[in-house]
Amino acid sequence: MGYRAEYDFWKADPEAYWLKQAEAIDWVEAPKHALFDRGNGFYEWFADAKVNTCWNAVDRHVAAGRGDQVAIIHDSPITGTKSKITYFELKDEVSKLAGALAMRGVTLGDRVIIYMPMVSEALIAMLACARIGAVHSVVFGGFAANELAVRIDDCTPKVIIAASCGLEPGRVVAYKPLLDGAIEIAEHSPEFCVILQREQCSCDLKKTDVDWHAFQLGIKPVDCVPVAGNHPAYILYTSGTTGAPKGVVRHTGGHLVALNWTMKNIYQVEPGEVFWAASDVGWVVGHSYICYAPLVHGNTTIVFEGKPIGTPDAGTFWRVIEEHDVKSFFTAPTAIRAVKREDPKGLERHKYNLGCLRALYLAGERADPDTIEWAQNILGVPVFDHWWQTETGFTIVGNPAGLEELPVKIGSPTVPMPGYDVQILDDLGRPVAPGELGAVVIKLPLPPGTLPTLWNADDRFRKSYLEAFPGYYETGDAGIMDEDGYLYIMARTDDVINVAGHRLSTGAMEEVLAGHPDVAECAVVGVSDPLKGQVPLGLLCLTSGVNRQHPEIVSECVKIVRDQIGPVAAFKQALVVDRLPKTRSGKILRSTVVKIADNQDFKVPATIDDLAILDEIKLALQTIGYAKG
Ligand code: COA
Ligand code: AMP
Repeated sequence: MGYRAEYDFWKADPEAYWLKQAEAIDWVEAPKHALFDRGNGFYEWFADAKVNTCWNAVDRHVAAGRGDQVAIIHDSPITGTKSKITYFELKDEVSKLAGALAMRGVTLGDRVIIYMPMVSEALIAMLACARIGAVHSVVFGGFAANELAVRIDDCTPKVIIAASCGLEPGRVVAYKPLLDGAIEIAEHSPEFCVILQREQCSCDLKKTDVDWHAFQLGIKPVDCVPVAGNHPAYILYTSGTTGAPKGVVRHTGGHLVALNWTMKNIYQVEPGEVFWAASDVGWVVGHSYICYAPLVHGNTTIVFEGKPIGTPDAGTFWRVIEEHDVKSFFTAPTAIRAVKREDPKGLERHKYNLGCLRALYLAGERADPDTIEWAQNILGVPVFDHWWQTETGFTIVGNPAGLEELPVKIGSPTVPMPGYDVQILDDLGRPVAPGELGAVVIKLPLPPGTLPTLWNADDRFRKSYLEAFPGYYETGDAGIMDEDGYLYIMARTDDVINVAGHRLSTGAMEEVLAGHPDVAECAVVGVSDPLKGQVPLGLLCLTSGVNRQHPEIVSECVKIVRDQIGPVAAFKQALVVDRLPKTRSGKILRSTVVKIADNQDFKVPATIDDLAILDEIKLALQTIGYAKG
């Protein structure tokens, strides 16, 4: 079936469509109904079924005779190590860790925070939770203790599974002080922590800590616990408009069905083939495409601990693809930009035979045409941009190359996948004409695998996603759909920015900056950056009477954002300004500042009286290399 027929099949009868896709999953009790309308815009999928994620990702492949197939390849150019785990070994490891957790009282529905770098044990921990129906919440290692503490208080984990350290090129990131600091800050305390000691930086264990290996000694492995189709598989926190992250909930049944569907239809891989997503387990791409989708589909997945450049050079991606026979490769545009900047002629690429590779998939941020074209030229395979979000867990708009490869229009992630009725609406909720800019929304219900709500925050879910356009899910992106139904994502409509493929909240940074004693008022905006897509820039108004050196204050501000949010915020630049540009009603004109910084044309907003401040900001931006005169 081609794309159009598949999409029409879905549109004609969404429930029949998803029940059909559900046949590819092993159920303990198969779903009789697909969709459950809970009212008020809330929906659930496969709620009447019983299933286990770990069975589908691990045990069923062993049962089907694939036990000797490699499930996980760990490749760490930072430590210079490589290792492989077969499905058989994975089952053994996961069921032992699950057994140890169960022995210590971790049971169905208990939350478990996982704070680990790119090691295979991170996947083992996720799958062990899934095996016993515990709900994991993986926290990215680039966040500071404070961010971890916020997540501890929100999801109140019974246990935290962490490693002693993560590794950044040239820098060991000691996790234990961050973990201990977070537990100190948080009101909720986990009962205990399981610590994986890494030789690069081992740590002292406290009374409430247990060593990963000792914890599992002599433990009886446990079997998979069947859970309801609407049981939360995990909570993943993502940035919203305010400092408090949103706990995106993922239900078990829909997650399995949707992810499994994508592996063939979007990523073009057959069970047994190697699929690689170069991301981090702390992000949604890592959840969906390093861990769950490839394993559920019976592929081999790669856990890569390194960077696209400098570990050791700009050929590292190509080396991994050749060495491990990667068929489909997924990364963020920023990673390709980093390689392109380092090796513009693609000389490193020609040292490797990439005959195995079918396509490169880009997502997580806007893919600029230069980067797509460069990658196409040096790789000689199609480059597919695709657009999705933490909330959806899989592609909203993409090129369904495994079904039917559609023509690529550079700049567009292509067309909506089955499950998504994507529309563009104006401020009043009316459809706009093809080619006109508007809010990108999705008609409810969202498909299986997408968020049913936010953790312990149904109201926030409604307010964030359902209220602006009744009957639709608001994506937070603005875009255009052309006559052929191709979507173009233009910008976010909220205070979320995307830095090196990492989703960050400018509101969260503003909250931290406002805590500096000399800062009276501030704004953070995302300005264009040739490598990272966007980087945050702070505008700081000082408290009257402060007459300290501005550079000193700026560097303190940079430090507090790094200390409280984490290095991943990449907050390195701030300007001290007299006052913030505001409308008469007091709204900060963030997008005007961005346009000035990025040298874009803009109309002076009619609602601003104080035009002089725009000129001042332009001058100040010029001093740090933005806003050409
Ligand atoms: N743990 C601790 N620190 C981390 C971290 C982690 N897991 N990940 C990033 N950081 C740190 C970096 O070391 C850096 O610190 P520094 O300020 O001391 O240099 C800071 O956070 C900013 O990181 P980043 O924005 O990633 O910049 P970078 O210069 O280290 O690397 C790229 C730039 C483009 C190579 C890198 O961002 C990259 O590979 N991006 C791909 C992103 C991705 O996979 N996104 C997932 C969505 S698909
Ligand atoms: P995240 O939840 O971290 O995956 O970030 C989701 C957001 O990143 C989206 O809402 C978009 O703003 C942006 N994004 C992701 N993929 C793309 C893409 N292919 N093109 C443009 N923007 C993207």
